[in-house]
Amino acid sequence: MLCSAKQSLARLTLSNHFGEKSPSGKPHFSSFPSPQILKSRKSDLSASKPLYISSFDFKHFDKSKDSNSQKALTQCNAYEAHRSQPITINLDFANEEAQVVAGQRIKIGLYFATWWALNVVFNIYNKKVLNAFPFPWLTSTLSLATGSLMMLVSWATGIAETPKTDVEFWKTLFPVALAHTIGHVAATVSMSKVAVSFTHIIKSGEPAFSVLVSRFLLGETFPAPVYLSLLPIIGGCALAAVTELNFNMTGFMGAMVSNLAFVFRNIFSKRGMKGKSVGGMNYYACLSMLSLLILTPFAIAAEGPQMWAAGWENAVSQIGPHFIWWVAAQSVFYHLYNQVSYMSLNEISPLTFSIGNTMKRISVIVASIIIFCTPIQPVNALGAAIAIFGTFLYSQAKQ
Ligand code: 3PG
Repeated sequence: MLCSAKQSLARLTLSNHFGEKSPSGKPHFSSFPSPQILKSRKSDLSASKPLYISSFDFKHFDKSKDSNSQKALTQCNAYEAHRSQPITINLDFANEEAQVVAGQRIKIGLYFATWWALNVVFNIYNKKVLNAFPFPWLTSTLSLATGSLMMLVSWATGIAETPKTDVEFWKTLFPVALAHTIGHVAATVSMSKVAVSFTHIIKSGEPAFSVLVSRFLLGETFPAPVYLSLLPIIGGCALAAVTELNFNMTGFMGAMVSNLAFVFRNIFSKRGMKGKSVGGMNYYACLSMLSLLILTPFAIAAEGPQMWAAGWENAVSQIGPHFIWWVAAQSVFYHLYNQVSYMSLNEISPLTFSIGNTMKRISVIVASIIIFCTPIQPVNALGAAIAIFGTFLYSQAKQ
């Protein structure tokens, strides 16, 4: 293997970037850059005298004496083209590995923070729109239409790479899109009838639906702690429901149907996406487009253009012409939060994702109670806290 490198420059670079020389005078690398880092430091290795790499070997994992951290050492033998004897360079991965892990943590943290923030904004604008314009079928359709349009423009302008899909892809996506459509409309119907916080308290019961569907429809079994964790989830949701001051059966059932639909969406997603190469952002874009096609005829049948026109006029007369910006905000933020959540799912395990989702509900519940001054009794808050604590126990028991 030929490595073109300027040795004198390489030595200088090594002492500058990677630490000191060893007592033997041979350059000792205190860390070995990841391939990306190597790429970014390409200019450090400019050609003058060619270096021949005679061997490159992952030597061993060495447990450091004074720390518990493990070091991956790699030995690289190389010699200048005009030398006959190889020089030995020891490469140590530990620091770079730690940097890569820290970078990944920061990236996931940013994904989570963005996902929760976008979700809070979506929920606030969605409720503001629904208060003035109680047409959940149209608002659900508009959020899917806006997302679809944003992605079509991104593909057309090259902002995002157009995914390569085939008929098989769309066929496997169909059940996912159907479940997504039902879950989305049901949640929006729920939020049009009850407080945002109440919808999300009931939606924190989703793990219970997941276990019950997996157990009774798919025949999966779980360890006892998983079943036990359902007790606080179901008990907490039930306590919050019976003590809800503005309880409404349609609102309650909407959140329950949404939970059930999203459990099926997750099951179909897992089956449909095995071995497929469409990334999180484009997967969600395709899902939005197919859901839009499914939802539009039902939205027209359920509400229809005449009711929408009358309702719009009424909303604009109450709120003013800027009402349209509320609708735009709820639609754009709906797409963005889902897009980021699908991008996060690409990076993390389903378990970490479900913990992130529970934390997201806490942010939404707290933010919406503050912003809408939702009246909440202590016993109702206790029910919510028990249900959310149950979802944490569930996540731990599933590990
Ligand atoms: C929707 O409108 O689809 C729901 O608000 C989604 O809820 P979730 O993403 O918080 O489960």
